[in-house]
Amino acid sequence: MSLNLLAKKDLGALLRETEGETGGLKRALGAFNLITLGIGAIIGTGIFVLTGPVAATTAGPAIVLSFIVAALACAFAGLCYAEFAALIPIAGSSYSYGYTTLGEIVAWVIGWALVLEYAFGAATVAVGWSGYVGSLLQDVGLPIPPPVASAPGTDLVKYHGHWVPVMTLAAMSPNEPGTVSQTVLNTLPHAVSRFDLMALLGILLVTAVLAKGIRESADLNTAIVVVKVSVLVVFLGLGIQYLAGHMSISAPNWHPFIPPNTGNFGDFGWSGILRGAGIIFFAYIGFDAVSTAAQEAKNPSRDMPIGILGSLVICTILYILVAIVLTGLVPYTRLNVADPIAMGVDVTGVRWGSVLVKIGAIGGLTSTMLVMLLGQSRIFFTMAHDGLLWSWAGKVHPKWRTPYISTIVVGVCVALLAASLPVTTLDELTSIGTLFAFTIVCAGVWILRRQQPNLKRPFKTPWVPFVPIMGMFVSLVMMVSLHRLTWEVFLTWLCIGLVVYSLYGRRHSKVQQAARGEGVATLAE
Ligand code: ALA
Repeated sequence: MSLNLLAKKDLGALLRETEGETGGLKRALGAFNLITLGIGAIIGTGIFVLTGPVAATTAGPAIVLSFIVAALACAFAGLCYAEFAALIPIAGSSYSYGYTTLGEIVAWVIGWALVLEYAFGAATVAVGWSGYVGSLLQDVGLPIPPPVASAPGTDLVKYHGHWVPVMTLAAMSPNEPGTVSQTVLNTLPHAVSRFDLMALLGILLVTAVLAKGIRESADLNTAIVVVKVSVLVVFLGLGIQYLAGHMSISAPNWHPFIPPNTGNFGDFGWSGILRGAGIIFFAYIGFDAVSTAAQEAKNPSRDMPIGILGSLVICTILYILVAIVLTGLVPYTRLNVADPIAMGVDVTGVRWGSVLVKIGAIGGLTSTMLVMLLGQSRIFFTMAHDGLLWSWAGKVHPKWRTPYISTIVVGVCVALLAASLPVTTLDELTSIGTLFAFTIVCAGVWILRRQQPNLKRPFKTPWVPFVPIMGMFVSLVMMVSLHRLTWEVFLTWLCIGLVVYSLYGRRHSKVQQAARGEGVATLAE
């Protein structure tokens, strides 16, 4: 059987496929929905959780600069995504862009790597979501039984009537505020969690909404986005008011703005800012997921760039302001906590602040899960239509008009993964999968400009090839800075993908069948 691993999907055929055709999906999303979809995916664990530890251990108040560096990297990739999403408005996103420019095997590898971004990303976020929900339920007197309260292996202790992870209480140093000594810890009742029930339920709930309809999903997402953006705006309002009144007391929190490097790469100083950017990059992941909704957009060539770049700009501004205010309110050395924004609100003395932040965080993480699962099912939907995955993954429900089977299968797998994930989170895997896709998309824009310079592009990435080259460079630098273990899992994952491709995809690929003259009617069958 002849096999051309670099066979490309014909761009003309693909463009005809997307004209009016949606493969059964419903065109229901306008520019506003697309911006909120992006914000829905972006604002989550990154700002509500990671900001604190990164400021405390890596960058200090200069985390503001880390946010700016990471935003620049995303801007390069975002501009490239915008060109492709307007030109080829198809649910496969970077997978489809790779198929038309670099060939089938590269497309397959991107599609497979995106599972790390979307499915593993959703599972990771679900674990954080469960932590916040569990904590809020305890606050209202409905504690979750310890054996099913947290990730497997989490050691819990009962402290002041609440079950909390030992890690949260264990004193880093004898005088650390809010922590207790080992001697006290040993006297408290202990329990070990075996299963994260709330993470499982959270994913299943979101899956049900996604299967029901894109309109319902978008509406729920918009409502949540309003809540989480409002919470951040209230935090900014309270924080700025407080800082304005206490400037003389709090100003020292910003000094030194860049704490001196402690001798190791990444521990404060300029290298700390760079490492901080690599970690905080996670906070921006999600704007690319807008492109997976292209087949459900009413006017994709106009609205895709607005959705991708608009959500990125809004979140960048919010993140930078939040970082400035937070490091002004709390000395950065005290920020190594799971709920830094709540800690910031507490400083202002507003009692209801911390409950408000918990609600904002739960909302934030819910919509991140929603858009990530949406992205995953749309990528599988497109891969199935290309014959690279089983046809059931591309089946659309006659009434709901969603790829319901792939939505449900993805949802159940991610729910089980989230409930049984070991304590260590997989956020670096999410980052490596995303950065890999960014690199290919940037390369693709440049290659297509050379191959087909006269193509009518509704949105053009400025300064090509400078922007794509910078996008690739920054993404690769960030990938290289990730841990060795992440690389090992990433490469193992890609090898598993290649086995699946050789056993199924290459035999059923419609592009390969067409090349062999086996009479494939359309790619969108
Ligand atoms: N950007 C998303 C978050 O911060 C992934 O949770």
